[in-house]
Amino acid sequence: MNLNKNSPIGIFDSGIGGLTVAAAIKKILPQENLIYFGDTAHLPYGEKAAESIKHYSVQIAGFLAEKKCKAIVIACNTISAVAFNDVRKYIDKNIAVYNVIDPVAEFVAAHYPIQKVGVIATKATINSRVYAKRINKLSATTIVTSLATPLLVPMIEEGYYNNNISQAIINSYLSKPSLAGIKAIVLGCTHFPLIKKEVANYYKNKVKIIDSAHIVAMYIKNSLEKNNLLKEKTGGKDIFYVSDYTTSFDESTKIFFAKDVGLKEQRLWD
Ligand code: DGL
Repeated sequence: MNLNKNSPIGIFDSGIGGLTVAAAIKKILPQENLIYFGDTAHLPYGEKAAESIKHYSVQIAGFLAEKKCKAIVIACNTISAVAFNDVRKYIDKNIAVYNVIDPVAEFVAAHYPIQKVGVIATKATINSRVYAKRINKLSATTIVTSLATPLLVPMIEEGYYNNNISQAIINSYLSKPSLAGIKAIVLGCTHFPLIKKEVANYYKNKVKIIDSAHIVAMYIKNSLEKNNLLKEKTGGKDIFYVSDYTTSFDESTKIFFAKDVGLKEQRLWD
């Protein structure tokens, strides 16, 4: 396979939440060409069975591989939690495949070796126990406590963030006894950078908020650099596909990517 520095980086998610990861990558690597795919026909993945998530994810990764991507980023915690191994096995070995959990697990293990750390995420991510497994593999003495927060994704998608209602719902989740005494909290879902402020308000800045988008983007930059795969020329062009186009998704891209991206529909399934 003829991949080189100028080949695009493929990024995919169950929908448009992964645009927060795409935005962080674009900020650090503006010269790169990005191809984004959001499976808006099937979201939310957070409530789906592992087999369905694996089935869709492998096909989306295959689509990005056909577009000759040099790397594929799984910009979704739920897919990273349940389908990373299947995607990695399916895709040509020359293409790097990144998930959004390993870089954060490394960060937590390095910075919180003996502390209690909380994780909030979708049901599928929490049920997989992936954060605890990956963090404890690197640091057995970090205490990882996890909480599924299924109301938060639909809440954010409906535009409820940065207001009294979202603050009240977030306060209710964060006051659960399992999260008592944490020193840091992982925002384990690509939608959650949008509610960082409410989480910070709840903890009055006494708990470190770990927003994975920046950590993941830095990890990818370092990895591509090490493999001599960073694009050097300026002028990156991006394409944003969704499996089911609606104007409301198109309008929502602004909140996740900080600007209109102009979604294109690409049906992978009939
Ligand atoms: N983007 C997904 C994640 O990071 C959440 C959205 C969904 O449930 O599809 O977990």
